[in-house]
This record gives sequence, C-alpha cells and structure tokens, in this order.
Amino acid sequence: MRAVVHDRYGPPDVLRVADVERPVPQDDEVLVRVHASTVTRGDAMGVRSADYRFTRVFTGIRRPRRTTFGSEFAGVVDEVGTAVTEFKIGDEVFGIAGGASAEYVTARESGAIAPKPARLTFEEAAAVPDGSLLALTSLQPAEPLRGKSVLVYGAAGSIGTAAVQLLAQHFGAEVSAVCDTNDVELVRSLGARDVVDRLREDFTKNGKTYDVIFDAVGKHSFRRARRSLKDGGTYVTMDLGFMYHVPLVSLGTRFVGSRRAKLGIGRYRKEDLELVNELVDAGKYRAVIDRRYTLDDIVEAVRYVESGQKTGNVVLRVSDAA
Ligand SMILES: NC(=O)c1ccc[n+]([C@@H]2O[C@H](COP(=O)([O-])OP(=O)(O)OC[C@H]3O[C@@H](n4cnc5c(N)ncnc54)[C@H](OP(=O)(O)O)[C@@H]3O)[C@@H](O)[C@H]2O)c1
Repeated sequence: MRAVVHDRYGPPDVLRVADVERPVPQDDEVLVRVHASTVTRGDAMGVRSADYRFTRVFTGIRRPRRTTFGSEFAGVVDEVGTAVTEFKIGDEVFGIAGGASAEYVTARESGAIAPKPARLTFEEAAAVPDGSLLALTSLQPAEPLRGKSVLVYGAAGSIGTAAVQLLAQHFGAEVSAVCDTNDVELVRSLGARDVVDRLREDFTKNGKTYDVIFDAVGKHSFRRARRSLKDGGTYVTMDLGFMYHVPLVSLGTRFVGSRRAKLGIGRYRKEDLELVNELVDAGKYRAVIDRRYTLDDIVEAVRYVESGQKTGNVVLRVSDAA
C-alpha cells in the first residue's frame, strides 16, 4: 500500500510516499481503508522533533522508531480482528490511529474510533477528532464551565475552532475569542459572542475580565494574561512554555494568589469521540477545513502546517472517495 513515511527526523522534506506492507489487524483491531487523513500540528512536530527533544525518549533517540506518519483518519472498515464486536466490514468510521496517512491503518476497537457521522464527507470527518478531543480533555481543569465567561486565545487553529464550538454548544459557556483579522467572522460563526482582532487590539488592555482564559495555541502567558482573569479565574495553556516553565508556574499558583495556571493535557478518548459524533449529528459541531492536499503533496502540506498560520485543519486526500 502507499503510505507517508520518514526514516529520520528533520524538516518536512524527510517525508515521502512509499510502498509498504499493508498492516494486519490484531484480534482487537480493525483494518480501515483510509479515504482521508489530515496533517495536525502534532504530526508535523513529531517529524521535526526539535522543539521537544525529550519526546525522543519515547519516539526513538537517533531515528524515529515508527516510520509511518499521520493520526486522523476517515474511511471504511476492510477487515476485523476475531475479538471485534462493535464494527463490521463496510462500516464507515473515523478516528485517531498512528500511521493514518496511508491507504490502510489499523485501529484498536477500544481506542478513539467511532462510526463516521453520516452528514459528513470523509474529508470533513477526518478533520474532526484531533482538535475536538484535545480541546475537550484540556479544558477539564477549568470545569465546570456552564455559564462561565471563557476567552479562547488562538481561536482560529485546530484546537481553537474546536474549543469555541464545544464551549458554546456543549459546555454552555459565554465565549469570547481572539484571532487575527481574517478569521474574525469565521470564529463568530462558530459561537463566539465577542471576537477580539489580535492585530488591532490587545485583549489584556481592554479592561474585560474572564473566569477562564484558554490559550489554545500556547502563544500567550499566565503572567501577561492574569490581569484579564477574574478573582479565582483559571488560565489553561496548551504549551509547556519557554524552558518548559508552565508546570512550575502551575504549581506556584496553587499556593500563591487566587488565580490558577494549568497545563492542558490532551488525550484521545473513545467516549469523547462518541460525544463529538452526537454534536455533529445535532448540527452543533463542524470541522473547519483550510486547505486540502493529496498524499503526494505531503511535504508542502506539512510546510504549511508548520507555518503556524493554518485556519482549522489541513486535510490529506488519500483516495478518490474522499
Ligand atoms: N498539551 C497538549 O496535550 C497538546 C497536544 C497537541 C498539540 N498541542 C499544542 O497545541 C497548540 C495548538 O495546536 P493547533 O493544532 O490548534 O495549532 P494550529 O492549528 O497550527 O494553530 C494555528 C493558529 O494559531 C494562531 N496563531 C499562530 N501564531 C500565533 C500567535 N503568535 N499568537 C496568537 N495566535 C497565533 C493562528 O491564528 P491567527 O493568526 O488567526 O490568530 C492560527 O490560526 C500547538 O502549539 C501544539 O503544540 C498541545
């Protein structure tokens, strides 16, 4: 089968499409014929692996242990392991599994895999899991969120566009958002009542305060944002920060002052994918897609994701059925 692979860490050019063995599902796995995948920020960082060198302890010190690429998929079940009960051959599914940017991928039945929402195309479905599942789990330290005022910083990214919709439609929060000029209308359409154009206004200087500030792109800081938090408010960031200082700051704020800093820790959970599936079916969640590429354009796609300027998600078309 055709799959995106990389034998070493480095810039996007280390990626290529190669013919590799089709994976064989274990007893508790399904084999999915992939129609669409995506390039997430995490996928791109995993290839370069420069910002977070310590992650190489898990991924391979000198060379990547796993040479396949990609995590989000949408496709059709092609084969099922003997212990699989939830899925059958021919089911349309979507989810997260390592090596998803390939014609076939295996996924554990108990992992983040669910029936594809009928109203979405394969491309649209592939762009749902990563941002939504990371946003759901990362917002947990700030719960309960019903009725709270929440500002989402970096609201036009994959996690940001997911967070705005989940906060407005699932958590019942009052959502404000910060993004650049081009994305103001989009972010408003996702459910933000008040949108600050970060190129024209500094939200920390407009006198407004929030119960929660969710830094979905990890580019702000607790130090600068704290004056915009109400007493007892929480700042959650997706990034470890300069010299990985966020866990230390988080610990410090447990003992000093009334405002808390937290690191959002994203996880991919099956139950969250099922929840998002219901929101999609109810018309309360949609994937925002910026650009679409084919597998052969993988280097260009990853370069664009690395620019940090994508709006929502970048899709990879794997088959003509995408
Ligand atoms: N903690 C975890 O478990 C975990 C897991 C996965 C990923 N992450 C991190 O989560 C972050 C967000 O991921 P993502 O997939 O949502 O990223 P993304 O889609 O690439 O984010 C792109 C958006 O970020 C905004 N942006 C770029 N530079 C900015 C700046 N200097 N200030 C404000 N906004 C800026 C841009 O919006 P505008 O230009 O429109 O403002 C753009 O739309 C990444 O840093 C990633 O490393 C964390």
